[in-house]
Amino acid sequence: MGYNLLKNKKGIIFGALDDKSLAWKTATRAFEEGAQFTLSNTQSAIRFGQINTLGNKCNAKIIPADATRIKDIEQVILQSMEILGGKVDFVVHSIGMSLNVRKHREYDDLDYDYFLKTIDISALSFHKLLQVAKKLDAIKEWGSVLTYTYIAAQRTLYGYNDMADAKALLESITRNFGYIYGREKKIRINSISQSPTKTTAGSGIKGVDGLIDFTERMSPLGNATADECANFAVVLLSDLSRKITMQNIYHDGGFSSMAMSLKAMTQYNKCLDEEK
Ligand code: NAI
Repeated sequence: MGYNLLKNKKGIIFGALDDKSLAWKTATRAFEEGAQFTLSNTQSAIRFGQINTLGNKCNAKIIPADATRIKDIEQVILQSMEILGGKVDFVVHSIGMSLNVRKHREYDDLDYDYFLKTIDISALSFHKLLQVAKKLDAIKEWGSVLTYTYIAAQRTLYGYNDMADAKALLESITRNFGYIYGREKKIRINSISQSPTKTTAGSGIKGVDGLIDFTERMSPLGNATADECANFAVVLLSDLSRKITMQNIYHDGGFSSMAMSLKAMTQYNKCLDEEK
């Protein structure tokens, strides 16, 4: 159901690969809320993923870009402004990838070229996007920029690998750019720290099924789904959240405030009994 939260809003959404992607769900909800937007992803993601289906569904043009390349980002922004008829109201950055995770390199045996790529794709791309948008003056006053992050930026979670470092940097960029963009243009920048979710990127994390089960048992409200993430995203993109900026907001059913729950303790005790 739509509430017209994004009526007359225009935006750019990066990172929809398939119908599980957080960006896909966000685009679908934004469309339901009345937004008009362009979509962007890499050439290979466009070729091998399903973004064309999303584009048709949301009446959105797709602009290919490698988000680590300034020239590509410039093109996405310039073309989006042309297609949408001027400055945009919102930008969603939903981009992440680690070759170390993909190639099963452990955190104490990282390939440093891969590590730099992880940082570039998963964190620096956000800075590049913001810097290009600011230089092109592409976002309207009181616009909203959003990225997706994970609690591994604050706490050590087995298997999250170098993505944890990338997320820490991503959240730092959110604050530091948020100050400048807020001060000069009244544009807000926030990150949503989402529960582990079975997407293509999420599924690459070592032991992800166990992690999802654990966080489900630990969170009083249970894990947040991708659809719920999209619901919250449209609020952050809307005028209802105009004074929220430079924040990392946990959207995780309460997991981030828990240390032990009854459900997790019960399961833990069961394992101990079996061991005895
Ligand atoms: P996904 O695999 O559907 O999306 C990741 C996207 O990044 C893909 O569309 C991919 O093509 C894009 N991408 C990779 N390299 C790129 C590049 N060089 N230029 C442009 N785009 C590039 O997975 P998901 O889960 O939707 O990921 C979106 C964001 O949400 C990521 O930042 C991820 O870390 C974050 N996140 C995911 C969680 C999960 O458990 N799935 C939890 C918390 C945050």
